[in-house]
Amino acid sequence: MYYILTGLHRPGEKGDTMSIHIAAKAGEIAEAVLLPGDPLRAKFVAENFLDNPVKYTDVRNILGYTGLYKGKRVSVQGTGMGIPSISIYVNELFREYGVKRAIRIGTAGSIREDVHLRDLVLAMSACTDSGANNIRFGGRSYAPTASFNLLKTAWDTAVSKGWQPKVGSLVSSDMFYTEDPNDWKLWAKFGCIALEMECAELYTLAAKYNREALGIMTISDSLVSGEATSAEERQTAFTRMMEVALETAIS
Ligand code: HPA
Repeated sequence: MYYILTGLHRPGEKGDTMSIHIAAKAGEIAEAVLLPGDPLRAKFVAENFLDNPVKYTDVRNILGYTGLYKGKRVSVQGTGMGIPSISIYVNELFREYGVKRAIRIGTAGSIREDVHLRDLVLAMSACTDSGANNIRFGGRSYAPTASFNLLKTAWDTAVSKGWQPKVGSLVSSDMFYTEDPNDWKLWAKFGCIALEMECAELYTLAAKYNREALGIMTISDSLVSGEATSAEERQTAFTRMMEVALETAIS
């Protein structure tokens, strides 16, 4: 019971599942995990991109599956939206399940004119206004950074298919609905290219646990122009992002 309450589970010790928010048993999660925010995205990816997918968790309807991509084991785990939510899942994946490689797949809002709807974005780093890193670092300013190895692999994969990703710093914000609608302009002025809500925590935790992490995003909307993608456009861009993410996961 102590381990259930504290999350200090050890492989095999609890017999059944190993962590509080993910109901997988030891060995059920692959070393490489894709991380969509939307749990139904996890289901869609498992059913459409993986062979022989098996669901290992549905706690709180946050779904996780393991299957095969080109014969190699890959998992796909929903994270929910925002830093507090992804923090829970990624902590458990790294601490309890020994995940070595975590790749966020998601959408982001462009904050620059030259970053267009449907563009593929690789998050080299992630600035943040998050309370999480304020708490963690006590006012110091940490620089959450992607794994260079994964970033290079994703870049090479995309370029080899004739796609030209945008690479740069994202902003992982705690707020979707900000008090000041022009809040994003300061980040844009300092070179950030898009807004989302999770990468900074993923990169910070990967550094802490000495694992590899990358965020691969498609641009779903633009704060510059106010435009947003249609469902059909999102699907095409999504397929491109998935190919890059899966090739990077198994590289
Ligand atoms: N803000 C924050 N996160 C997002 C956005 C946005 O405009 N678009 C997609 N994810």
